[in-house]
Amino acid sequence: MDLASTDRLLTTTRSVRKRLDFSRPVERSVIERCIEIALQAPTGGNMQDWHFVVVTDAAKRQALADLYRKGWEFYLKLERPPMAEDDPRTQQLPRIVDSAQYLTDHFHEAPVMIIPCIGGRVENMGVFAQASTYGSILPAVWSLMLALRSRGSGSAWTTIHLLHAKEAAQLLGIPDHVTQVALLPVAYFKGTDFKPAKRLPVSKVTHWDGW
Ligand SMILES: Cc1cc2nc3c(=O)[nH]c(=O)nc-3n(C[C@H](O)[C@H](O)[C@H](O)COP(=O)(O)O)c2cc1C
Repeated sequence: MDLASTDRLLTTTRSVRKRLDFSRPVERSVIERCIEIALQAPTGGNMQDWHFVVVTDAAKRQALADLYRKGWEFYLKLERPPMAEDDPRTQQLPRIVDSAQYLTDHFHEAPVMIIPCIGGRVENMGVFAQASTYGSILPAVWSLMLALRSRGSGSAWTTIHLLHAKEAAQLLGIPDHVTQVALLPVAYFKGTDFKPAKRLPVSKVTHWDGW
C-alpha cells in the first residue's frame, strides 16, 4: 500500500460544496461500486443491516432539497457554544457557513443524493446500543465518501435534513424501524487541489493513560 497516497486521501477528502459540478451526471455503476467498497466497513455484532437510498429522480431531489433548506433555516438560528478567537474552528466558521449556504441554495441540482440508513431506532436506547448502531453505518458512510473521492466525485456529509427525517422517510418509503443517518449530495468535483484542513493539534485531543 502506498502510504503517501493513502495519507493524502485521508487528509484531503473534504466536504465539497462549491466545487460540485452539477452539470455532469454520476454513473450508476460508479455509485454501485462505491457502495460495494463501503460495505467492507466494520459493523457491531456483524449486523450489516445497512441500506443506501440513492435518489436521482428530479422531483424527489427537489423535495429533499426543500426539507434541507427548512432544516438549514432553523439551524442558522441555533446558538453556538463560544470558542476562542485563535481556535482554528472559529477562523474556519465564516468560510464553512458561506459554503454551506451555497450548498443549501443549490442542493436540488446535485445529480445524485444518497441517504445511508441502518436498521433499528436508537431514540430510547442506552449508550452501548446507540454507539453500536451508529457505529455500524457511519464508517461505511466515510468509506463511501473516500471511494467517491478516488473516482473524482465529491460529496458533503450533511445531517440537517434529519430535522425533517419523517417527511423524508414518507417521500422515499423508508420504513419506520429504519434510521436515516446522513444525506450526501454527490457530483463530480471541479479541480483536484484539495488540501488538509486546519485542525486542533494532536496534543490537545489525545489523552495518554487517562483524561
Ligand atoms: C455528522 C456530520 C454532520 C454534518 N452535517 C452537515 C450539514 O448538515 N451541512 C453541511 O453543509 N455540512 C455538514 N457537515 C460537514 C461539516 O460541516 C464539515 O466537516 C465541515 O464543513 C468542515 O469541513 P471539512 O471536513 O472539509 O474540514 C457535517 C459533518 C458531519 C461529520
